[in-house]
Amino acid sequence: MGAVVAERPASPDGRSALSGEKGRCEVDGPRLGGVDDGATLFRRVLGAFPTGVVLITASDEQGPVGLAVSSFTSVSLDPPLVLFCAAHSSDTWLRIRTAGVFAVNVLGEDAAGVCRRFARKDVDRFAGSGYHLGATGAPVLPGVAAHLDCRIEAVHPGGDHAIVVGRVVHLAADEAVLPLVFHGGDYRSLRAV
Ligand SMILES: Cc1cc2nc3c(=O)[nH]c(=O)nc-3n(C[C@H](O)[C@H](O)[C@H](O)COP(=O)(O)O)c2cc1C
Repeated sequence: MGAVVAERPASPDGRSALSGEKGRCEVDGPRLGGVDDGATLFRRVLGAFPTGVVLITASDEQGPVGLAVSSFTSVSLDPPLVLFCAAHSSDTWLRIRTAGVFAVNVLGEDAAGVCRRFARKDVDRFAGSGYHLGATGAPVLPGVAAHLDCRIEAVHPGGDHAIVVGRVVHLAADEAVLPLVFHGGDYRSLRAV
C-alpha cells in the first residue's frame, strides 16, 4: 500500500492511470500531498460521490455575485442550518462573506450551461439568466428546483476552504423541476431506478 495503483497502469509508477482512461485508483491519505498528481486523484475519487449543484449568490453595491458549488448540504433542522465550502482563493466568496447573506439556488437538470458559466472568471455569470431578489436581498434565478435564503451563521476553518454555515430564513421548492447531478466530473440528470 502507499503507492498509486490502477487496474491498467500504463507506466511503471502507475501515475499515468490518474489522467488516462477510467480505472481503479488508490493511495494512502497521508501521502496524498506528496503524490505529484494528488489533487487529480483526490478529485477523481471524490467524483465517485454524486452531488447536486447549487449556485451560491449574494448582492452588494457592485451588483449580483455567485459561484457554482457542489459542497452544499444540510446541517441542522432546529435551528435550520445548511453549509457549503468556499475556497479561500475565491474572490466571489469574499464578496458573499462581506454581504453576510446568501441564497442557495438548487439547479435544475437543464442548467448545466448555467452551472459552467458560474464557475468561469471571464464572463458575466448572470448574463441572460434573469433573477429576482429573495428574502435576504440575494439573487434567486428562475427555474430552480429549490432555493434557500440564508444569513451567515458561522465560518469554520477547513484546510484550503472555509466551511460556511448558513441559517435558513426562507425556503421554497418546485418539485416539478428535477435537479442537476454532478458525478465523475460530468453533469447528469436523475433517473428513477
Ligand atoms: C460542479 C462544480 C462544483 C464546484 N464546487 C465548488 C465548491 O464547492 N466550493 C468552491 O469554492 N468552488 C467550487 N467550484 C468552483 C467555483 O464555481 C468557481 O470556479 C470559483 O469560485 C471561481 O473563482 P472566483 O470565485 O474567484 O470567481 C465548483 C465548480 C464546479 C463547476
